[in-house]
Amino acid sequence: MNIPLVLETDTVSYIIGDNAIEKSVNKFRQFKRIIVITDDNVEKYCLPVFRKKLSSIEIDGIITIISGEENKSIHQLIYIWNELTRLNAGRDDLIVNLGGGVLTDIAGMAAATFKRGLQFMNFPTTLLGMVDAAIGGKTGIDFARFKNQVGLFVNPTCVIADPVFLSTLEEIHWHSGFAEVMKYGLIMDRELWQKLEGKNYHEVEDWNNVIIKAARDKIDIVRFDVLEKGIRKNLNFGHTIGHALESFYLKSGNPVTHGMAIAAGMICETWLSSKIYSIECTCLESIVKMIDKNFSRFNFTENDIPRIMQLMKQDKKIRKNKQNFSLLRKIGKAVHEVEVDNNLIIQSLEFYINRKSIIS
Ligand code: GLY
Repeated sequence: MNIPLVLETDTVSYIIGDNAIEKSVNKFRQFKRIIVITDDNVEKYCLPVFRKKLSSIEIDGIITIISGEENKSIHQLIYIWNELTRLNAGRDDLIVNLGGGVLTDIAGMAAATFKRGLQFMNFPTTLLGMVDAAIGGKTGIDFARFKNQVGLFVNPTCVIADPVFLSTLEEIHWHSGFAEVMKYGLIMDRELWQKLEGKNYHEVEDWNNVIIKAARDKIDIVRFDVLEKGIRKNLNFGHTIGHALESFYLKSGNPVTHGMAIAAGMICETWLSSKIYSIECTCLESIVKMIDKNFSRFNFTENDIPRIMQLMKQDKKIRKNKQNFSLLRKIGKAVHEVEVDNNLIIQSLEFYINRKSIIS
């Protein structure tokens, strides 16, 4: 039987890995009532597992929202606030957020703002949630068709990430999480990168340990920089261009997953890294090859580049009108706040479009 990683930081308790849910049972004792916030998909596939593993814990209320990024909206936030009001939720109660990244973002925001803040725990049910979204206290909603436009940093009291839920995960969601797992390898964990390199996500032998390692990487960053003033910015590798592409496809009515967009962003931003830091050419080739093994290329063209550049200007990371990137010095080492010239950004998008043959 695998033993989960248990980690207590000043503000958050983490239990990550097989059997994490069973191990979390004592964390519920201090609360008067337990209210679960989940979505329609998770309610069907994961809530029964959650209930079975925590059969001694009584659930006093369930709030179910509609799944999907398009529903990470002010309307659903209001729905949750209304339901919390109906249930008379108060400061002695615990909110359990059970779901993927969209759910933990919106439900975290609802809990953190209701009656000026209720305590909440995150139980991520997707790979992306387990290694990224549920960790680090970013909560929020999309607004005016921009992702995460409104929100706040508030840490959950606990993050309990149990891979048991992954057996029901659809392929596109595996890919989405896998992009973020690769990112940890590239920005800070060479050993993790070596474990993954050359593999497709279903060729990875030991997901339990990969999740523990990736989640641990994220915790090691956010515990020292929750407000993203410094080192947390390294997590944005692939995200400046990736978010612009995600918005581009969302606005064109063909939404893509976060992971697909970040994978494309990592190709462009690895190219930028290779230009600015002249990382050995073999790194560029091998990183692009690994990403191409797992993700199909997008079909935007050179005519779309001005629009993508415009969308990049909405980036929350922009300071004083300058486009800052987190880039790689080499595999396992990232740097943040690298100012990049617009022409070079355009060339990185052209590289993405034109160098399709790198693995053939
Ligand atoms: N997903 C990046 C972060 O949490 O900072």
